[in-house]
Amino acid sequence: MDKKATLKLSDGRTLEFPVLGGSIGPDVIDIRSLYGQGGVFTYDPGFLSTASCASSITYIDGDAGLLLYRGYPIEQLATHCDFLEVCYLLLNGELPNRKQKEGFVNTVTHHTMVHDQLNRFFMGFRRDAHPMAVMVGVVGALSAFYHDSLDIADPEHRKVAAFRLIAKMPTIVAMAYKYSIGQPFVYPQNSLSYTANFMRMMFAVPAEEYNVNDVLVRALDRIFILHADHEQNASTSTVRLSGSSGANPFACIAAGIACLWGPAHGGANEAALEMLESIGDVSKVGEFIKKAKDKSSGVRLMGFGHRVYKHYDPRAKLMRETCHEVLDELGLHDDPLFKLALALEKIALEDDYFVSRKLYPNVDFYSGIVQRALGIPVSMFTCIFALARTVGWIAQWNEMIGDPEQKIGRPRQLYKGAARRDVQPIDRR
Ligand code: SDX
Repeated sequence: MDKKATLKLSDGRTLEFPVLGGSIGPDVIDIRSLYGQGGVFTYDPGFLSTASCASSITYIDGDAGLLLYRGYPIEQLATHCDFLEVCYLLLNGELPNRKQKEGFVNTVTHHTMVHDQLNRFFMGFRRDAHPMAVMVGVVGALSAFYHDSLDIADPEHRKVAAFRLIAKMPTIVAMAYKYSIGQPFVYPQNSLSYTANFMRMMFAVPAEEYNVNDVLVRALDRIFILHADHEQNASTSTVRLSGSSGANPFACIAAGIACLWGPAHGGANEAALEMLESIGDVSKVGEFIKKAKDKSSGVRLMGFGHRVYKHYDPRAKLMRETCHEVLDELGLHDDPLFKLALALEKIALEDDYFVSRKLYPNVDFYSGIVQRALGIPVSMFTCIFALARTVGWIAQWNEMIGDPEQKIGRPRQLYKGAARRDVQPIDRR
């Protein structure tokens, strides 16, 4: 029997709507006919109770602390797969077999170089520009270089654009870093894996050979996996909304990067590390927690809380384990910031203010400590997030373009401004 929802309005009218069910998770009330039937809108700033689309890519159960990419738990993917396998999964819906993986890796590897004229875009930025500002500019500029993959109605164009973006983001991120420290750009090395290649482009210098540390490469590869996709978060919704107008994929990803930059979203890992550095010592944790609980202070416990996870973010647990591995590999297990983070987490998780509001560490709480230990500067943390999330943005964008139900996104509003009135001559205003 088809499920229905009935809305009784105080003026006596009764409106009925279909209730749609997914494969797992909450049902949705299909309210597309609400305005046509009832002349009213729904009101949901921040979209707390609104599903913007149907998707088969990622599923989150915030209460159970569950995160599935195409049905696979993030814990299993982070343990048994590498980032490019996860990219293949997110884009195609299934994990690749050996032959498929080889073909995918080969294609990505041979798209890692950027047009040499792209280098000039970096020269227009100040050396101390925030790397995310550079990323927004340079990724948006890719639209000017790839006219042969901008027809979003052509699945082949979309596929080429996907490969280009996934393959070139590490190169562009590394270039943004090199530019900021005044070192020469390092070209991709096709003999290396995706993540080893990225680390070499970030840290190699022409003056000496760069030795890849497999433990550190594996840790960063896992960080990419943990950040690859996350349902309809703010930046993914930005990419979908931009794409709904028919904008080209490079412009849509640039819009996603801009949104991710915000400290309430992808910028939180940078803010979380700066928070730990400002607390400085475990003895100061109590004083900071007090401020974070006082709304008038404007201070928040960065890396804590989540719109969906009302229990532990499964990515935070995996990130904490990765932290241990990297710090041990580097002989930094006494890293004061890591010890401070563990102390802060323990105190917060025993404090009723955070527990009652279901505020737990999220993916950003430990990621800054790991990245800092890997030699990645704080200013680059969100660029790393953007690098990893590009595959999720592309997969979601692709799904939207292929969705027969998709229309240009155009929300309405609750208008609270002035009613109609006439312009008065300036001497009578
Ligand atoms: C990411 O959406 C995604 O999936 C995002 C992401 C992804 O992978 O794409 O997971 C990545 O963005 C993770 C979140 C990173 N952001 C931070 O760590 C910044 C700190 N966190 C918060 O600003 C906040 O928790 C949000 C933005 C993450 C969620 O905000 P909500 O769901 O809108 O919750 P809220 O702001 O309404 O807070 C609910 C209550 C409030 O108190 P009351 O009004 O109920 O008394 O909790 C308080 C808030 O004041 N609160 C915090 C807090 N987060 C919420 N108090 C102190 N410290 C915090 N971190």
